[in-house]
Amino acid sequence: MNPLRLDIDADIRRAWTPPAAFYGDPAFYALQLERVFAATWQALPELATAHAGSASGARPFRLLPGSLDEPLLHSLLAEGAANTRERLLSNVCTHRGHLLCAEHNPGPQLRCRYHGRRFGLNGELIAAPGFEGAQAFPSASDNLPALPLERLGPVRFTSLAPEVDFSAWSAGAERLAPLLARPHCFDADSAADFEIEAHWALYVDNYLEGFHIPFVHPELAGVLDPGGYATELLPHGVLQTARAAEGDVVLELPADHPDADARLAAYYLWLLPGTMLNVYPWGLSLNVVEPLGPRRTRVRFLPFVAEPSLRSRGAGGPLDVVEAQDEEVVEAVAEGLRARLYGRGRYAPAHELGVHHFHRMLAKRLDSGGRERSMA
Ligand code: FES
Ligand SMILES: [Fe+2]
Repeated sequence: MNPLRLDIDADIRRAWTPPAAFYGDPAFYALQLERVFAATWQALPELATAHAGSASGARPFRLLPGSLDEPLLHSLLAEGAANTRERLLSNVCTHRGHLLCAEHNPGPQLRCRYHGRRFGLNGELIAAPGFEGAQAFPSASDNLPALPLERLGPVRFTSLAPEVDFSAWSAGAERLAPLLARPHCFDADSAADFEIEAHWALYVDNYLEGFHIPFVHPELAGVLDPGGYATELLPHGVLQTARAAEGDVVLELPADHPDADARLAAYYLWLLPGTMLNVYPWGLSLNVVEPLGPRRTRVRFLPFVAEPSLRSRGAGGPLDVVEAQDEEVVEAVAEGLRARLYGRGRYAPAHELGVHHFHRMLAKRLDSGGRERSMA
């Protein structure tokens, strides 16, 4: 049996794109969840709105619902009027594994309904009824496991088992820092989730090249300078920049910033595997790509507004139109990849550097002993 491998040549001029079977094989999909999603940092859309109006308590949510599905709790501990600490905890009782909270818990303690074990909002075990006589008990592993909580601008991140720390993973995001540091307001009314019939990496592939813009997005192409599109490869991501068309609205950057004079219409920062930070003059559009199966994906759109008056202007203006156009081409590719007469393709060396870089990252994580592990 031939193990499924990506086998992406390091030289884009010679390389072939991943075999079509990659974008649908169930065993290979399971391996991607373990080696790519569990090992990297994920944006937390749930924390954009969490705890509105509540000072203290714990709110349950799932990390990557529909794939990793890890039950977590975001807890806030009020420590005096001005001081609130937050934690990201496992929502699984350390006794025999019952889920701890089914809904928002406003109180100062979490109580497991199975055998009454109680935890503080910081995850520490407070009481374990019936455990008299248990030896070496309690220990640190009887507390709820805590996950790291990091941030880029208004967006929060965590990781179950990070292969690198957050600053290494987000290297390159410094370029966006002055814009991400603006005060942002989450616009819940304009946030939306879409589900598409396609493997998650097809959505990312499409995001990582501006090659298709003149063909697929006429409205967007009209506000960009056709010669001003650039792609930079980062250790764990890709940064694309687009120069604004003459006279159109541009990103305001400090005078000492390397892009101060570049007249940028947008930064498009992708971080492995599914985080997209699109920075426009009006603010930040966070896109989160969440796998739902080997051929199904949820894409979440979360707008964080910094300059409401610029909302409809420039590259960040026609977002709904652009999104619908992208979904259509991604689903058409998903269908094409199921054809018997398609195997794999080639990269356009001047335009598909980001896509190639992404596929190399995947190959590095998936090609070593991949099939054996996923079948185990
Ligand atoms: S599983 Fe929670 S107390 Fe037993
Ligand atoms: Fe697009």
